[in-house]
Amino acid sequence: KEDKAQCGEWASNYICSRINNFIPTKERPSFVLGLPTGSTPLPTYAALISLYKSGKVSFKNVVTFNMDEYVNLPRSHPESYYTFMHENFFNHVDIKQENIHMLDGNAGDRSLAALEAECEAYESKIKSFGGIHLFLGGIGPDGHIAFNEPGSSLTSLTRIKTLAYDTIVANSRFFDNDIEKVPKMALTVGVKTVMDADEVMILITGHNKAMALHMCIEEGVNHMWTVSSIQEHRRAVVVCDREATSEL
Ligand code: GLP
Repeated sequence: KEDKAQCGEWASNYICSRINNFIPTKERPSFVLGLPTGSTPLPTYAALISLYKSGKVSFKNVVTFNMDEYVNLPRSHPESYYTFMHENFFNHVDIKQENIHMLDGNAGDRSLAALEAECEAYESKIKSFGGIHLFLGGIGPDGHIAFNEPGSSLTSLTRIKTLAYDTIVANSRFFDNDIEKVPKMALTVGVKTVMDADEVMILITGHNKAMALHMCIEEGVNHMWTVSSIQEHRRAVVVCDREATSEL
């Protein structure tokens, strides 16, 4: 597509058609959507809200699972992914609160055991809905998907991850440009959690993602560029703008 806005239009129409054509079954009664945070999906969320407001789609029978969340950042913090998702999407559509699933980076007493239990419970919850129909994702400039930093196993499931220094620097723009304020750990779905979805759609926009797009689709499947694992997915689509294609 030409630019970010067109990518958002295209992606939102695609998601809507999947929701509207979904046929519930006993095993999979709801449409299950995996969702990302970051600036890349913002035009998609805005376009989805417009489609909802014009009556073209309803989220009443949609269940969502978000990709990741910082550890030890209160949910009420303006930069928590919980806040981000509610402000930029959930609060504006008719999704049922009980259908929204987000990892809790403050689970239990925040001990490693409590956080690990949270991650295991998340995987079980996804399974209880019969798996994810469509996982929408963005990527970091280093090709990470969710918080699966370079070197993550491509068979990984939901777990605790220490953030790469580059990611901490990249995300410091949301924390007064102060890397000290950026959480150093996160809970994240694994690469396999994303790849187990029936369909995966990755949004890649802007010059700073050009190398990642190249590594993602033109080089081999590689755990240093975790998004490259989509090459082995049977139904994967990359939605990118012209800027992101400059290294292809
Ligand atoms: C974070 C998130 C990723 C996201 C990435 C890129 O690392 N955990 O899921 O893809 O940021 O963010 P942006 O879209 O703002 O470039």
